[in-house]
Amino acid sequence: MDYRKDIFSPIADEFDEFSRRYTSLFSCENQAVDLLLKFLLRRKGKQMRPALVLLTSKCFGQIPDSVYHLASAVELLHQGSLIHDDVVDESEKRRGLRSANAAFDNRIAVLLGDFIVSKALKEITATDNLDSVGALSGLIGTLSEGEITQLNALGQDNLSEDLYFEIISKKTANLFSSSTSLAALLSGASEQEIKAFHTFGLIAGLCFQIMDDILDYHDTDETGKPSGNDLKEGKFTLPAIYALNSSDRDWSSHIKAIRGLYATPFQIAEVTEYTLSNGGIQYAENKMQELKKQAMDSLPAFISSDLRKAFQSYLDLIVNRQK
Ligand code: IPE
Ligand code: IPE
Ligand code: MG
Ligand code: MG
Repeated sequence: MDYRKDIFSPIADEFDEFSRRYTSLFSCENQAVDLLLKFLLRRKGKQMRPALVLLTSKCFGQIPDSVYHLASAVELLHQGSLIHDDVVDESEKRRGLRSANAAFDNRIAVLLGDFIVSKALKEITATDNLDSVGALSGLIGTLSEGEITQLNALGQDNLSEDLYFEIISKKTANLFSSSTSLAALLSGASEQEIKAFHTFGLIAGLCFQIMDDILDYHDTDETGKPSGNDLKEGKFTLPAIYALNSSDRDWSSHIKAIRGLYATPFQIAEVTEYTLSNGGIQYAENKMQELKKQAMDSLPAFISSDLRKAFQSYLDLIVNRQK
């Protein structure tokens, strides 16, 4: 299925306009910084968040100038958080190429991430809307809180699905819900419509991270980042949380070792194997299907059929993607 076609055809011209503006942000008079920005430009992601911003705004008619700034701001914030995330996760690969921390070092990656986050703030300021400036500034805190909560979970010995959902809401889904709710706000939506789009974005974002966590169990290069990394980093995600919690076997010594980052490759392989053969992936997939339905039900009724189809394909792409 070519989900991308259904997603991008209602916003083809607008997405070109966004890409032109976004690319133009990656230059700097300082040559050393400019080199780093060009390094980033050679690593383009899927740009799922700006697509969602433009689709949401399009529901309200012509896309205003402020929404292009919002689209750049959310993609920049995402980009900045990935640069920092790869430092935190000690991950050497991103978008099929070397991550910033691997190509340069942690010092450069932390500072480059800050530089990009600062650009995100400048872009959101250009919307001339204080509510969106406040929301995006708060979101930077929420993303960090999610990552800190995830690190803090390394000290716990039980696996909790509630804590998993709290973490993924903060580190991932809130960026999606801000993309939709702020796009609606800047496009003149009513309170009720803003709330509806917020719900759609939040649920799409939850599905997005669940799928990312499923893909970590796929032994392929297609994702463009290392696989099997989550358990190595001490992270238990939905498939393992479900499989281990519903097992008769006592997994506590494995959980402790993985969380304490001293697990042997054999212990990690045992947990992976158990998760794969005891319905962990299926459980996570079922969860996404349930959420997907809730997301579609949350969309306002007035949306035209081609845009509704685009949102449906957006969710289909999230849950069926290989990268
Ligand atoms: C990766 O996001 C980080 C997560 C929230 C799982 P994407 O998969 O959207 O990353 P890019 O931008 O396409 O590389
Ligand atoms: C998502 O977490 C990263 C952010 C939201 C910043 P992951 O650590 O799972 O993301 P990947 O797998 O490195 O892209
Ligand atoms: Mg990571
Ligand atoms: Mg991941």
